[in-house]
Amino acid sequence: MGDAGGLLDEITHPALLIPGPVDFDKAVLKAMSSDAEFHLGTSFVNVFGEVLSMLRRFFQTTNPESQPFVLSGSGTLGWDLVAANLVEAGEHVLILHTGYFADCFKECCDNYEINVTEIKAPIGHRPQLDEIEAALWERPYKIIQLTHVDTSTGVRIPLQPLVQLVRRVFPSTLVVVDGVCSVGCEEIAFDDWDLDVVMSATQKAVGCPAGLSIMMCSSRAMKVFDSRRSKPPSYYANLAKWLPVMRTYEARRLGYFATERFNQHAQASAKVKQAVGEMGLQQIAQDPEDQAHALTAMYLPEGLAPIDILPRLLQRGVILAGGLHKDLLTRCIRFGHMGVCVTHEQRDDIDRGIAALRVVLDEVMREKGQVGAHSS
Ligand SMILES: Cc1ncc(COP(=O)(O)O)c(C=O)c1O
Repeated sequence: MGDAGGLLDEITHPALLIPGPVDFDKAVLKAMSSDAEFHLGTSFVNVFGEVLSMLRRFFQTTNPESQPFVLSGSGTLGWDLVAANLVEAGEHVLILHTGYFADCFKECCDNYEINVTEIKAPIGHRPQLDEIEAALWERPYKIIQLTHVDTSTGVRIPLQPLVQLVRRVFPSTLVVVDGVCSVGCEEIAFDDWDLDVVMSATQKAVGCPAGLSIMMCSSRAMKVFDSRRSKPPSYYANLAKWLPVMRTYEARRLGYFATERFNQHAQASAKVKQAVGEMGLQQIAQDPEDQAHALTAMYLPEGLAPIDILPRLLQRGVILAGGLHKDLLTRCIRFGHMGVCVTHEQRDDIDRGIAALRVVLDEVMREKGQVGAHSS
């Protein structure tokens, strides 16, 4: 999406370079300042219908049986939608654990009395295909769930080889992707990769305010929902309530969407990763294959904590995030590069972020009498 407002006004706020929420394009701000609308009026029906159709393009699905959902709620609502609709109490779910968000999805499953098995990778790594295969042979899992990009570690799991493995070993297991930190900046070819569910939210690489939960389901996933034995144990997060709404709105309107976003995000990510490497900082995800395009999560030099760095960055007009994963809280910072700071040609947030980080690190290291040491 371009900047419909033409030239940006002078940017007076700090560069918000955290792994979500991200800054808005002027076009988004403008769209947000519209009057309240009748939710059954033509104008809203057209906009909502278009959003649903555009989501098909966004996820690269042309299969008319794929089903997009957009609901009021945050990314977390996607977990409830999955746990309440695609799994039943007592069934088994396999979670690939690459950080904080796997723990949260497990907690969500616990609430629905779903049996969870986790494959935990060491921090900065992802579960390997051979261990996943071994787990898949052990019992029939209803779903395998993974966080495409874990926002607490910056670890990305390649989706295609995983789906290929699942289809070979237990083809009916649904592959469910938490794409909250990947949709809009990492490529997701829903049909070609044979994915079943991708859930996401609006406040990260999609570049909008928080408040909407986005989900794309395959026909395989919808058939699993249709063949439930029990009623979904949730009122709001019950797909049966929302399916007719989505279908009715989408039937009114078809839209289009085209974008170079994935390449732009890959380039911005490479730039940040190269710069932090030059600063002597080690990324949490060390193998380039495991590194997300959405953010760069890095260890601080030995003896430094986020508190030494983040306030000074803010003084220079840059906001990065501290640690989120419990084992990394005081040892890591996270540089988000998603949305308008990447896609807008006239924004230099990323360069400002890199420059500020370089200066602040130098400053702090000099004060502490350290040069170039980093922990891992
Ligand atoms: C990977 C991932 N999954 C899920 C969530 C939860 O999304 P929300 O905060 O929109 O509920 C987040 C939030 O940061 C996230 O990064």
